[in-house]
Amino acid sequence: MEQIESQLIKEHLPNHLAIIMDGNGRWAKSHGYERVFGHKKGTESVIETVENVGKLGIQYLTLYAFSTENWNRPKREIDTLMNLLISSLKKELKTLQKNSIKLIAIGCLEQLPKKALRQLSEVIEQTKQNENLTLALALSYGAREEIVRATKAIALKVKNNIISIEDIDQSTINNHLYTQNLPDVDLLIRTSGELRISNFLLWQSAYAEFYFTDVLWPDFRKEHLVKALLDYQKRERRFGKISEQLI
Ligand code: IPE
Ligand code: IPE
Ligand code: MG
Repeated sequence: MEQIESQLIKEHLPNHLAIIMDGNGRWAKSHGYERVFGHKKGTESVIETVENVGKLGIQYLTLYAFSTENWNRPKREIDTLMNLLISSLKKELKTLQKNSIKLIAIGCLEQLPKKALRQLSEVIEQTKQNENLTLALALSYGAREEIVRATKAIALKVKNNIISIEDIDQSTINNHLYTQNLPDVDLLIRTSGELRISNFLLWQSAYAEFYFTDVLWPDFRKEHLVKALLDYQKRERRFGKISEQLI
């Protein structure tokens, strides 16, 4: 493990890493448990990954924890997920403080149960001065909903003569997204073997590098993270240019 970690080039880590944490249900099933146990097990991977990412010196980490589409799951599963969110926030506040991690949340947060929203707001408030890593939890998040919301907010400003149509550019859109304070995604990891984006950070991932692994989220350990980062470091990000222009 240490040997592969030492291959990482510190100056060439992604500034913003995003992860679609998928496969909790399948992990549980394959171990003979109910789906909800997979979510519980998955929280261990969350804590471990957050700490590892912070220690590596990455600045921004966004974790897809609950999508707008996930509201269509059975109520029992949704309740378990919300209760897990509340208990993890309570339990891990000290981990966030110890590692100087600032928590923020992106998504349609008003849809969350009041108790979850209260606990979330409390941890956000208590960690707002932390400077090591910014951890964005995507909760009740959907990129299409985010874009609709931004469009409405911009349209309202045009209507009220706060901005003119000619003023609208890419930064206007960016500044009206949930992620307005986050940089573009550099590396997007999805676990569990699914090869799709599932309505996550569509705008922000326009030039992200994608990394897919068959590892199920509850099995995701530091070695898998380092492997993804090493793979990222081998890529040439051309942003439309040609290789010779990059030097
Ligand atoms: C990801 O695991 C967690 C959430 C979407 C909340 P899943 O629950 O989607 O697990 P699979 O994909 O069914 O295995
Ligand atoms: C995406 O996973 C959402 C999260 C990981 C929170 P899903 O399991 O909900 O996505 P689909 O349904 O397989 O696309
Ligand atoms: Mg899934």
